[in-house]
Amino acid sequence: MEVMIRLPYIEPVFRPPSEAHSLILQVTNGCSWNACTFCEMYTQAQKQFHLKPQQKIEQELAAVASTGQSVRRIFLADGDAMTLSFRRLELILQAIRQYLPGVQRVSSYCLPRNLKSKTVEQLAELKELGLELFYVGCESGDDLVLERVNKGENFDTSLAALKKIKGAGAKSSVMILNGMGGTKYSEQHAINSARLMNEAQPEYLSTLVVSFPTGLERYQAGFNGEFEALDQAGLFQEMFWLLDTLELENTIFRSDHASNYLVLKGTLNRDKARLVQTVRDALERPGAVPLRPEWMRGL
Ligand SMILES: C[S@@+](CC[C@H](N)C(=O)[O-])C[C@H]1O[C@@H](n2cnc3c(N)ncnc32)[C@H](O)[C@@H]1O
Ligand code: SF4
Repeated sequence: MEVMIRLPYIEPVFRPPSEAHSLILQVTNGCSWNACTFCEMYTQAQKQFHLKPQQKIEQELAAVASTGQSVRRIFLADGDAMTLSFRRLELILQAIRQYLPGVQRVSSYCLPRNLKSKTVEQLAELKELGLELFYVGCESGDDLVLERVNKGENFDTSLAALKKIKGAGAKSSVMILNGMGGTKYSEQHAINSARLMNEAQPEYLSTLVVSFPTGLERYQAGFNGEFEALDQAGLFQEMFWLLDTLELENTIFRSDHASNYLVLKGTLNRDKARLVQTVRDALERPGAVPLRPEWMRGL
């Protein structure tokens, strides 16, 4: 189903690749944290963080309903709509039910700290109202790397949030950033990220290659100038450590974002041996595994 409805967004608007056909409902603008040194998504002046009033959200839902187009999925934007209080989220989800009763799934980006003041019972209530998938940018499970990039989260806070989501019967889709620790922290970044996933057992896991669209300056500052970006072989080696350490029961794994050289897809651990072998081949037999050409990569 292709949703063609475009609401009056404050651009730019970002959404996960898997929400390409969802209606994007901008219930907040920007990101309440906006301080991760790798992320420039909401740094433009017009993206300064604010909540959208309920009345405006309802007007937009009414406008969508009046088109008569069927909407089955909604993604709540922007960067961390889950910063909204339980009460505000409840009102938004109730309004979605009222105006667009055909909606089957609502999802959102979610920072671990967004869930701190929400109980498992409240999340379960939101899940009953349709909010059932959270995209959590853990980025790493390594405390040192997380501190270097100023994520404001660590292994324990990330795990607590992922457990809360699971406890509420909702699903999580975790993003890990390949290359985020540079050469120095590559191995510990990979291994601790895998450990975090092993404890959390998310339903979905994807990796993206970290990129620096406007330069390295801000990022380097966090690393005291010691950050050395991984080359292609370094990125593959890190992916090998990550995959090799993962012990997952039933997680859909995707490393197919446009930023990746090597496209990997499967269900873990069922497909672990195949995926590990593909990465090993890419490392040991250059040319044996087809790679995405540089010009096709992009955020
Ligand atoms: C729009 S952000 C919102 C995520 C949410 N605020 C969170 O932190 O969980 C979505 C994701 O894009 C990815 N991202 C942001 N900047 C990036 C960069 N420079 N290179 C690669 N991935 C990046 C990160 O994985 C981030 O979690
Ligand atoms: S990665 Fe997420 S939390 Fe960090 S600045 Fe970007 S949108 Fe905000």
